[in-house]
Amino acid sequence: MNNKNILSEKEIRKQFLDFFATKGHEIVSSSSLVPQDDPTLLFTNAGMNQFKEVFLGIEKKSYKRATSSQRCVRAGGKHNDLENVGYTARHLTFFEMLGNFSFGDYFKKEAITYAWELLTEVYKIPKEKLLVTVYEEDKEALEIWSQEIGLPKDKIILIGDNKGGKYASDNFWMMGDTGPCGPCSEIFYDHGKDYFGGPPGSKDEDGDRFIEIWNLVFMQYNRDEQGKMHLLPEPSVDTGMGLERISAILQNVHSNYEIDLFKTLIAEIAKITNTKDLGNNSLKVIADHIRTATYLIKDGVLPTNEGRGYVLRRIIRRAIRHGYKLGCNKPFFNKLVPLVLKLMDDDKDISLDKRKLISNEILLEEERFFITIENGMSILDQAINDIKNKDVSMLDGEVAFKLHDTYGFPLDLTADICRENKIEIDTEAFEVSMKSQKTMARESGKFNTTKTLPYEGTDTEFLGYIDTYSSSKILAMFKDSNELKELKEGDEAILILDKSPFYAESGGQVGDSGYIKTKDAKFYVQDTIKIKKTYLVILEFLNLAP
Ligand code: GLY
Repeated sequence: MNNKNILSEKEIRKQFLDFFATKGHEIVSSSSLVPQDDPTLLFTNAGMNQFKEVFLGIEKKSYKRATSSQRCVRAGGKHNDLENVGYTARHLTFFEMLGNFSFGDYFKKEAITYAWELLTEVYKIPKEKLLVTVYEEDKEALEIWSQEIGLPKDKIILIGDNKGGKYASDNFWMMGDTGPCGPCSEIFYDHGKDYFGGPPGSKDEDGDRFIEIWNLVFMQYNRDEQGKMHLLPEPSVDTGMGLERISAILQNVHSNYEIDLFKTLIAEIAKITNTKDLGNNSLKVIADHIRTATYLIKDGVLPTNEGRGYVLRRIIRRAIRHGYKLGCNKPFFNKLVPLVLKLMDDDKDISLDKRKLISNEILLEEERFFITIENGMSILDQAINDIKNKDVSMLDGEVAFKLHDTYGFPLDLTADICRENKIEIDTEAFEVSMKSQKTMARESGKFNTTKTLPYEGTDTEFLGYIDTYSSSKILAMFKDSNELKELKEGDEAILILDKSPFYAESGGQVGDSGYIKTKDAKFYVQDTIKIKKTYLVILEFLNLAP
């Protein structure tokens, strides 16, 4: 404890897990941020993900009640908070979700009474600071809140279908477009009238006064790809409470970014970036993004141009740009990794090699982006000035595309900078440029070149179904159909490996990208294709190993 009366995040987490353990729940460890065997999810976005098959009745566990503190990322997928980070007190792309789960055991009554007991008797939050929402058709939950808990009517808000949303309603929770789902009841905390915002369901609900802290989902359905709802084998419970949000309340602060962990992290970022004003928004963005980047890389994601890797790249580049805004023009972001791991209590549990790998991957991405950021920023600044002088409010999609294609500015990074200047992007024109570039790249014949490679060695053993890392031997290297004996920094080439975890473009799926390291050099794999059973990785020689 950092002060006699104030609980640390670690103690708050422990009290949650211990409380549910005394109610017969098995304490289960957090699962990876990369969901195992679940192509419907980009990243683990809720505590219930690892129990999906248990809710569906496909998998049986030795317990019917569980509790966990699950690390989650909400960026790029169905639940995407990336754009909100830096603009609100409550959004994070990486957070810990405290949850309790019932697999066909207890249902609404226990879920609600447990939550109330923990909040008001263990955490001792004053009852009058809490209010709840209930799905408007859920008479049972309404009755439990008003009869069993005794919450006054004006503290229970009925919420129905969301404003014209096609599938979700505000009080009907789904982990993705398919999978287990059900009506929910959310618990909010009123931070008081010093903060702007209205209660849930009101026109100012997006303000930061009333903050949702805990969502109790009454899992009842499985939604299929056609949107049809099928009853689950047994009604179940899935709850989620953000550790950072409950910590803000219990540490008597308003924003997630003021809790102990973030205070320490932000002070360090301010030191590294030489920033005097600790309230600067860029510090918050960097603090959020370094946790996300650290834990995505720890769980095997690397910054690349596709899928999960591209979300990671976008997050790192957005953080780098905020550092640049604070005056950093060389790598700084990677230096925060050791402190993040320490604050998360992971510095001893993660091997030294892994810790080094995380810092190095971030450093590499910083080195790549710092080469182009200055030129990209001056082009964008110029375009923004022109727009302001001409009194228009849209950035030309072609400029956004050039920034993306030549300077490595992901579209949402350009959008973030434009948003600060109250400018939108012509995304349609961006998409047109993007499509035509893809067609040109395809036609320019990477396949023609590679189809004629004079290679007659052994096939590549494909490991991608089992692993995302491997040690391999280089069997041959080519450039423009010529076999090479050596490569220089900056060269682009094709490599053939004896075994490879890189998936090759086929059946409409793009080829993998990633990194290859030898004992003295690093390469960026741009793409992977195959000829019969030989996998060709197309790469760029980045630099000699430090
Ligand atoms: N699974 C409940 C939530 O994420 O809100």
